Amino acid sequence: MLPASTVMNDAVIGVFDSGVGGLSVLREVRKALPAENLLYVADSGFAPYGDRPAQYIQDRTEAIVGYFAGAGAKAAVIACNTATAVAVHALRARFSFPIVAIEPAVKPAVEITRSGIIGILATKQTLASDNFSRLVEKYGHNVRVLAQPCPGLVEQVEKGELDGPSTRPLVTRYVAPLIAQGADTLVLGCTHFPFLRATITDVAGTGVFILDPAIAVARELHRRLKACDLLSSDERPGTDQFRTSGEPETVQPVFRKLWAANIEVRPLP
Ligand code: DGL
Repeated sequence: MLPASTVMNDAVIGVFDSGVGGLSVLREVRKALPAENLLYVADSGFAPYGDRPAQYIQDRTEAIVGYFAGAGAKAAVIACNTATAVAVHALRARFSFPIVAIEPAVKPAVEITRSGIIGILATKQTLASDNFSRLVEKYGHNVRVLAQPCPGLVEQVEKGELDGPSTRPLVTRYVAPLIAQGADTLVLGCTHFPFLRATITDVAGTGVFILDPAIAVARELHRRLKACDLLSSDERPGTDQFRTSGEPETVQPVFRKLWAANIEVRPLP
């Protein structure tokens, strides 16, 4: 019989987002932790979160993290800035395993900007949250912070439309005014936006820093697992499982495009 700690170390790590955006975090987790078994949930049946009331997001995130707990997960990653902004404290109070969460990279942006003006691209809920106000209060005093909500962009990524006639004008509408006001650093404050990076870079022009905190999240997850003695000791590559609360047949083509592999997406039980 295997010792209890080995069994726990082989347990899955649950990673979730409202939809496919969290795959931008999952890919960094996969690179940083090749031996871990990952269970990704896209809450596509209830997405997007960005314009929903806080209670709705709290209920959904508790249901998903509860599902991870039922699946015997050893840790969870909130791969959604909106869910972090609204629900991270309640989730940490309710579940005892480590919960690592993404939030907009305000601190690194303040450190990197030369013009003293930073742009934050995120959902309405993220920008309206107390968590975001606290971040700006803590790190943003010597810079000008331009907070830009981006309605419609999450939906474009959900459709797999990363460029083209319906996506590019939206990106231009949100990014161009920030650059015109002197921003030299843009924070991707929504996990869907790294998939639009090429279009955002194109619109922003060269010389603008674009920050995505996904690598920092993967590093933090590694640090937490190590500190709790929960890292997998398996030498074989870990497994990836994908689930959705939406229609698997509808979301699967976009999953395959963004994950660049012929994966199967199964329904969330
Ligand atoms: N990927 C989520 C985030 O990081 C998108 C939120 C939404 O569903 O609107 O905020």
